[in-house]
Amino acid sequence: MSVTSETRSRRMRVAGVLQACRPMPALWVCGWVRTVRRGKDITFVALNDGSCLENLQVVLDSRMEGYAAAAHCGTGAALHVEGELVASPAAGQSWELHARRVRILGDADGDYPLQKKRHSFEYLRSIAHLRPRANTFGAVFRMRSALSFAVHSFFRERGFLYVHTPIITANDCEGAGEMFRVSTLPAEQPPMVEESIDWRQDFFGEKTGLTVSGQLQGELFATAFSDIYTFGPTFRAENSNTSRHAAEFWMIEPEMAFADLADDCVLAEDFLRYLVRFALDSCSGDLEFFDQRIEPGLIDKLEKLATADFFVMTYDEAVRRLERAPVGFEYPVAWGADLQSEHERYLTEQVVGGPLFVTDYPADIKAFYMRLNDDGRTVAAMDLLVPRVGEIIGGSQREERLVVLQEKMRKAGIDPARLDWYLDIRRWGSCPHAGFGLGFERLLMYVTGMENIRDVIPFPRTPGNARF
Ligand code: 4AD
Ligand code: MG
Repeated sequence: MSVTSETRSRRMRVAGVLQACRPMPALWVCGWVRTVRRGKDITFVALNDGSCLENLQVVLDSRMEGYAAAAHCGTGAALHVEGELVASPAAGQSWELHARRVRILGDADGDYPLQKKRHSFEYLRSIAHLRPRANTFGAVFRMRSALSFAVHSFFRERGFLYVHTPIITANDCEGAGEMFRVSTLPAEQPPMVEESIDWRQDFFGEKTGLTVSGQLQGELFATAFSDIYTFGPTFRAENSNTSRHAAEFWMIEPEMAFADLADDCVLAEDFLRYLVRFALDSCSGDLEFFDQRIEPGLIDKLEKLATADFFVMTYDEAVRRLERAPVGFEYPVAWGADLQSEHERYLTEQVVGGPLFVTDYPADIKAFYMRLNDDGRTVAAMDLLVPRVGEIIGGSQREERLVVLQEKMRKAGIDPARLDWYLDIRRWGSCPHAGFGLGFERLLMYVTGMENIRDVIPFPRTPGNARF
């Protein structure tokens, strides 16, 4: 073993140090300085390495070698500290590290933007390269990482196959015309044919963009592996500058063969409960922070969700409830119109006070692939709405009948020839199947109480914003 790897293996993470069962005569940690309190003979440095919310208190004694330099490190400096772990006499912490040797790996001067005072989330967005070092964002991104892991465990426990669907695609799955173009044609003077761009000369020989959903390819895999899921980046060029929309977000899309809308709702409910349970059990430190600082009552809300029944209501019923609502909405409510987020939030927050599936939407406002109900005017769709966030999941049973699907495509203005591969799975071995998409950032907003999608994704992409 080389000297370096031997030394490396002894660095402890702050989270591990703080969970120590007994004093330790010698250890070393690295991290970034959160605060420095200088006294005459003694200096306290709060050190954080991102492994948990808490800082490790490092005590510098003026008799130690190199005290003067170490005690003058700035907030934000990166330190390497060797010393002894002893029980701390201070309230609120069990351990402190009495330094024997401190090395300043990278100092930080007074211009470091994350000085001790509180900063607004807006300001922190403008320093997205540094905000992971702020408490709130430490907690958010630890939660994001933990829940990503939980997504995979949920499906793995249920025998779902994880499939990587393409990011570049020629198909606008949702049909909403919100695709970002992917092209290598010269933007200034693209080749033309009959006054329009000749996409045949483009890299892929046709017009392509970034995927808005992995569902169509997910369906292909579901009709081979029975139960599958995708979890990947998703792109939408919708120019809506809201707190719940991002141009780049992560979506989890399970797809099940031999399943109908009811099965789909059961899976969605189990999935959300599982993720919330996981957060409660595995991220309690960060959740307490969110409960105290971001959304009071959050833990209680999550505990309730983990056990409560989810409500189900048809779109018909939802519209009736909204029409009777004693509040004024900005957008009018009428059968056939899509529900706006103010409507969704009213239903989940005021009408049922918890998670709510709205099912069987009018066919005309939903994507072409959703299965037509026997009434001929609604589809077997569901949206799961939760308080504060609104729509967190959107899904449906898929149209498995070839002729009906072809007709729906024609109505939606989609050329069936362009999706012949999608139609083929209705030709050979077609079967009922269903799935949904969970917006990962919406989930994080729900679980952390953070109100803006820009604050739960490391480097948000929104209109006018791709700096970091
Ligand atoms: O309802 P959507 O558009 O459904 C689909 O894409 C289907 N193909 C899913 C499926 O059935 N496999 O999107 C699903 C979810 C929404 O409920 C929402 O949580 C999230 O994705 N979402 C967004 N999240 C952030 N920013 C955006 N612009 C989003 N658009 C959708
Ligand atoms: Mg939707």
